[in-house]
Formats: sequence, C-alpha cells, structure tokens
Amino acid sequence: MHMVSKPNNNQSSLLIPGIITSSMATLLFILLLTQIHPLNVTKSTALNPLAVKAGRTTFMMTCAACHSSKATGIKGLGKPLIGSAFFNSHSDAELLKFLKTGRPVTDPLNTTGVMMPARGGRPSLNDTDLANVITYIRSLLYRCHETEPYRR
Ligand code: HEC
Repeated sequence: MHMVSKPNNNQSSLLIPGIITSSMATLLFILLLTQIHPLNVTKSTALNPLAVKAGRTTFMMTCAACHSSKATGIKGLGKPLIGSAFFNSHSDAELLKFLKTGRPVTDPLNTTGVMMPARGGRPSLNDTDLANVITYIRSLLYRCHETEPYRR
C-alpha cells in the first residue's frame, strides 16, 4: 500500500483569489500613503537645486546685509522675507519684476521709510541671478512652512 500525493485542489484554487486580495491590499496601502503626503514630495523637488545653491551665494553677498542671513529681516534695514505676505502671494515673475525696480520710500507700499534698492543695490546682478535668489528664498520657505501653498 502506498500513498499517492495528489495535488491539493483546495490550495491551488485559493491561490488566484489570494493574489488578487493581496494586490488589492497593496494598492489600497499605496493609495493611503499618497493621501497622507499628497504634495510635499512634488513641492520640494520642484526647486532646481543648482538654482538654490547659486541663489544662496547671491543672497548671502547682497540681500543678507539688510534682510539677515536667515531672511528674517533686520529692524531699520530690511523687512523679513520669511513669513512675508508680499513674497508668498507673488509669482516668481512678479517678484523678479519687483527686484529689478526695488521699492523707493515714495512707493505707497513702503512701510519702513527705508528704500529697497533696485537689484538689491547691485546693478551687476542679472535677471538669472535674481531668479536664483527667489528660488533660494522659496527653498527657505518650504522648510519653514511645508504645508503652505505657494504660487510659482
Ligand atoms: C540696502 C538694504 C537692502 C538690500 C541690500 C536688499 N533689500 Fe530688500 N528690502 C529692503 C527694505 C528696506 C525693504 C522694505 C521696504 C518697505 O518698507 O516696503 C525691502 C523689501 C524687500 C522685499 C519685499 C518684502 C515685503 O514683505 O514687502 C523683498 C521681496 C526683498 N526686499 C527682497 C530682497 C532681495 C532678494 C535682495 C537681494 C537681491 C534684497 N531685498 C536686498 C532693503 C534691502
């Protein structure tokens, strides 16, 4: 008398529904993960790292003197850029236009009585330099307010 081991029908019939169930569970899990962190990943990778690096150099050499090295502002010199409603509510193109002209004391938007010089007072800075500075400041804001929406 010998045993013939037959293929277990019960097991093989469970295999397909098993695969379907587990792949559905995986999909559901991925869906949940992407719902928890919907935007942060795409937002922080949207900034060109080379522009951030170049912008940091220009910022430290030019803007930090009045706006401080952390962009938090210096009383009597330059307003805070971190948390600036003006900065946060304008697009890159609008901010570039602003930086090219600055904000004289006669400008109704001027609140300090101190002039924001055109191109930060350095006429040698070209539009790309200024665009890079904007990208650098945005990179600081992403780190400070990860969830706040920004217009680019
Ligand atoms: C000589 C000092 C000085 C330098 C250098 C300078 N700024 Fe300013 N900036 C100011 C002052 C003062 C104001 C605020 C003027 C006012 O009362 O509205 C200002 C305002 C701003 C604002 C508007 C902020 C707001 O909330 O209204 C931005 C943006 C800005 N500066 C960016 C820059 C950048 C970028 C650089 C470097 C390229 C730079 N600034 C260089 C003095 C300076």
